Amino acid sequence: CNHVKHHKMAGGIEKLSLKREMGLIGAISFIAGTMMGSGIFMSPQSVLINIGSPGGSLVIWAACGVLVTLGSLCYAELGTVIPESGGEYIYFLRIFGQVIAFMFAFSCLFVMIPTSVSGIALSFAEYAVTPFYLDCTPPDLVVKCVAAAGIMVLATVHSMNVRLAIFIQVFCMCFKLVALTVIIVGGLVLLFNGNSNHFEDSFKGSNVEISSIGISLYQGLWSYDGWNTLNYLTEELKYPEVNLPRAVMISIPMVTLLYLLVNVSYLVALTPKELMSSSAVAVTWGNKVLGSWGWVMSIAAALSAFGSLNGTFFSGGRVCFVAAREGHLPDILAMAHVNRLTPSPALIFTTAISLLVLIPGDFQSIVNFFSFTAWFFHAVTLSGLLYLKIKKPELPRPYKVPVVIPILVLLAAIFLVLAPVIDNPAIEYLYVTLFIFSGVLVYVPFIHYKICSGLLEKFTAFLQIFLEVAPADKTL
Ligand code: ARG
Repeated sequence: CNHVKHHKMAGGIEKLSLKREMGLIGAISFIAGTMMGSGIFMSPQSVLINIGSPGGSLVIWAACGVLVTLGSLCYAELGTVIPESGGEYIYFLRIFGQVIAFMFAFSCLFVMIPTSVSGIALSFAEYAVTPFYLDCTPPDLVVKCVAAAGIMVLATVHSMNVRLAIFIQVFCMCFKLVALTVIIVGGLVLLFNGNSNHFEDSFKGSNVEISSIGISLYQGLWSYDGWNTLNYLTEELKYPEVNLPRAVMISIPMVTLLYLLVNVSYLVALTPKELMSSSAVAVTWGNKVLGSWGWVMSIAAALSAFGSLNGTFFSGGRVCFVAAREGHLPDILAMAHVNRLTPSPALIFTTAISLLVLIPGDFQSIVNFFSFTAWFFHAVTLSGLLYLKIKKPELPRPYKVPVVIPILVLLAAIFLVLAPVIDNPAIEYLYVTLFIFSGVLVYVPFIHYKICSGLLEKFTAFLQIFLEVAPADKTL
């Protein structure tokens, strides 16, 4: 693989590392490609159900776009002050130290990566099976089995062949662009032909309780998730101090605009009732607007989600690598196959946990847990940024964000973490919180006092031989 350069380490062990090869265009497509996936084909109905009115739902989609744009500017400053790969993990490590960084790695490994993998897989499955169940909702078991199959196929591809995985990424990207363009153009045509009656009295019925707003934001923000992807691979970016801020300033407003237009199109073509009762909105849209060609939309949406799943496998591995490199996760998770150079141990681990999450979970609750955890850590990251701005003003800052922006985003993040809990406290969020904090309980004995490290070494040696893997600095 030509992205990888080999260099001899002391002791003759060959390590692998990545070159700075990604330019502005690559960076933009990486962000946009990760963001656009399952959500825009799954969440519009959940946003509408929770917020209650078409006008309210467009406001939510726009608010999500503004929030992640501002958030990504804050992350751009962090990425240029601490120009290392690893995203939040490395910022926590450099700003707050070991314990918080470990808590993040732990939550990433057990909550964020598996929930995003299984959430995307579920929406892939939903779209893949819909054409076979024209007049009814597909049975849950079928959807889950297809989702599990999708996860396992991609995990196999990623452990066999990196080139094939890259090819899948590009191939699916084309389909999702076509799908979104078709939806937008179709909607605009309808709109110019005077179909705007669904927008009359468009705020009627809005739910303004804090928890409805919170949950609709969670569902919308899922579609925008991935806005911070570039911070995970800063070390692979050419001129990160220029390209990181520029890439987020171009790609995120672009995605926001696309999402708004797609939502307008859904709302023009479908009545709020049709939209809310659909389990796969792009198919319902397709059947209504494209008639007998409606099934094309389900294939395109399934491929879009598949591509997003593929991309999530790519980026999920990075946190494992960086955290294992710092001694926070078992070494085995940072190893790569000796010939194929693929991170198979991390993939196997991610797959196993994702399949566990898939068994009890449904799309909406998986997305809610994901967003809750993600915004909890975004709040911590933003506090870190503010801390650096106040305490270390002398650090070189090639890109500076005005201090009000992190303050606003921090307030929004705090709102997001508290909102679903305030007037409707669901016990599950307590479990998730306890889980995040239980990271500390794991940290003290296993990382700080290193108990069991002998056992772990033996186990690692066994797995190394069994899986044919060896330490790698960083691979794809
Ligand atoms: N926004 C994506 C979607 O709509 C989900 C991204 C999941 N997170 C990630 N880091 N890959 O499907």
